[in-house]
Amino acid sequence: MIVQEQVCLKDKHSFHLNVSARYWAEYQTTDELREVLQDKRFAKLPVLPLGGGCNLLFTQDFPGLIIKSAISSLEVVHENEEEVLLRAGSGLDWDQFVETCVSQAWGGIENLSGIPGLTGASPIQNIGAYGVEAKDVIQAVEVFDRQTLDSLVLPVEECGLAYRNSRFKQEWKDRYIVCYISYRLNKKPAYRLDYGNLKEALISKGGLQQGPEAHHGNLSLIRRAVLDIRSSKLPDPDVLGNAGSFFKNPELETAAFALLAERFPELPHWELPNNKVKLSAAWMIEYCGWKGKSSGRAGVYPKQALVLVNLGAARGEEIYGLYKQIAADVFSTFGIRLQAEVVIL
Ligand code: EPU
Repeated sequence: MIVQEQVCLKDKHSFHLNVSARYWAEYQTTDELREVLQDKRFAKLPVLPLGGGCNLLFTQDFPGLIIKSAISSLEVVHENEEEVLLRAGSGLDWDQFVETCVSQAWGGIENLSGIPGLTGASPIQNIGAYGVEAKDVIQAVEVFDRQTLDSLVLPVEECGLAYRNSRFKQEWKDRYIVCYISYRLNKKPAYRLDYGNLKEALISKGGLQQGPEAHHGNLSLIRRAVLDIRSSKLPDPDVLGNAGSFFKNPELETAAFALLAERFPELPHWELPNNKVKLSAAWMIEYCGWKGKSSGRAGVYPKQALVLVNLGAARGEEIYGLYKQIAADVFSTFGIRLQAEVVIL
């Protein structure tokens, strides 16, 4: 395995900022991962596991070692008439993985089409879109333990997958590195079409067909509809650097929400279990006048206010400064502290 020094990260993360890493290594096996983690040169340096770099904001050069998974195997572990169990390496491109599954008529992740990044991020971030989350299909996660230098399998129930969150992002951040993910997918129709305008988008494409033989065509149609909706709202990171939603949609207790709704009756919201309500951060940001605005070379995407963009040669601090200004305005208007969804380094 080759370890490179002073590596430019511009094309290795989706904000495309001009930052560098002191060391960079890509591993194809867990043995290679063990080898690099045991290397004395890096013993005292910070280590950052990176996937597609699609959920990160670098505010400065990275002073340590970045390790990137290039484990790209995909195996069918078990299969019957109803479902298939897959074991995917953490270095597979997520959307190519979705495309492969759709082409095999394996359902469950078609709503997650078009999400940038690698499969390895799916349990860490519990990626989600259009009413589906990674936790709905992940069965287990195989990780490499940086303390014991061994692999172990964690059932998904132990991983604390929640809205854009998991134990991998919290207390396990410096301990476990995701190497393989097991996904359980459907061979029979079980579509999730209730989010937003997905149903209408499908109807405009001719609608879903009935019968088991229509399954493959239906999955392709859903994938196409999701890709179309995404491209109408979200910028292509290779054209305009970004990290998807920069903010999380905040959650409030029902009682606190009722008071807020008296002042802002139009605020879009979704009821959650346990007396909670999720609010649209995009709407609040737009209400504060930020949609389409910029500060220096950092901007708010004109079609989706949750997305901060690099307008060209932005520095990480500029994006960070914009995030702080928006969060301060939302707090003074709504009394709500928005949290960043992206990891800020
Ligand atoms: N809205 C606005 N202004 C905007 C954008 C949206 O008022 O600029 C309102 C819409 O009118 C709608 C509501 O916000 O009532 C929800 O909009 P949308 O369906 O676009 O979803 P979102 O809450 O803004 C979330 C995810 C996205 C995901 C979509 C679809 C978060 C933080 N973001 O966005 O995920 O694609 O739902 O499921 O949960 C990501 O995580 O990077 C990401 C893009």
